[in-house]
Amino acid sequence: MNLEDTIYKRQSIRSYDENPLDNHTLEEIRDFIDNAKELNPSIKWSYEILSEKNINTMMRWKAPHYLALFSEEKENFYQNIGFIFQQVDLYLQSREIGTCWIGMASPKGYKNPDKSQKFIIAISFGKSPDNIYRELNQFKRKDLSQISDKEDERLIPAQFAPSAANGQPWYFTHNEDDSYDLYRVNRGMLRNKLMGKWAKIDTGIALSHLYVSNPDSFKFYRKENPESLKGYFYDGSFEI
Ligand SMILES: Cc1cc2nc3c(=O)[nH]c(=O)nc-3n(C[C@H](O)[C@H](O)[C@H](O)COP(=O)(O)O)c2cc1C
Repeated sequence: MNLEDTIYKRQSIRSYDENPLDNHTLEEIRDFIDNAKELNPSIKWSYEILSEKNINTMMRWKAPHYLALFSEEKENFYQNIGFIFQQVDLYLQSREIGTCWIGMASPKGYKNPDKSQKFIIAISFGKSPDNIYRELNQFKRKDLSQISDKEDERLIPAQFAPSAANGQPWYFTHNEDDSYDLYRVNRGMLRNKLMGKWAKIDTGIALSHLYVSNPDSFKFYRKENPESLKGYFYDGSFEI
């Protein structure tokens, strides 16, 4: 299956075989990551594939592998990590390898050699005993009219994106020149403090689905003076 079709089949997987993937597969995954598209190429980031003994999670289930993701704290670094690694999520799921983003995780006994990068988030992955795919009618997502100022089928790939606690914090507006502005819900000071970084990863993930669906025409940029939208933060603009 290609990455675009995987958008409409994937789901978070929370049940894994304990057997690790073979080295050849892990090499192919590293290769994919090295060639993934960045949202902001000026930000340094890195990753490490850790086993279960090198990760703390609040989850009751375990996976044979975890991607621990690190980044410099600069500009839109959370969105950048969401954008890059949602391509990886789709790649893994396209190969029948289950994945789940895990906000509540931290590396144990592993330190990134680059001190300028901090730990951002983890993704579990591995083979699952279950069928990892689902049908379109099994997705629980907001309607297009709830995530955009105009019902626009070109935004369907973003509509199906995964997000922390399925919060879907994105909102899209249309510009006269056919470009779009992307906004992120402002949930108030307390909840932004607790969950704000995940919402930024989420909007990066939504952009990733739009990129994968429009790889040749996708362009992302940030406006100097974006229009403000009450109850939202501006996260960037794009063409698809
Ligand atoms: C940034 C982020 C953090 C997440 N953290 C967790 C987590 O800690 N534990 C978990 O079980 N799922 C986690 N998820 C998975 C979401 O719950 C899941 O993506 C969402 O409910 C939509 O379901 P789907 O991925 O099956 O489409 C996270 C997802 C994202 C994008």
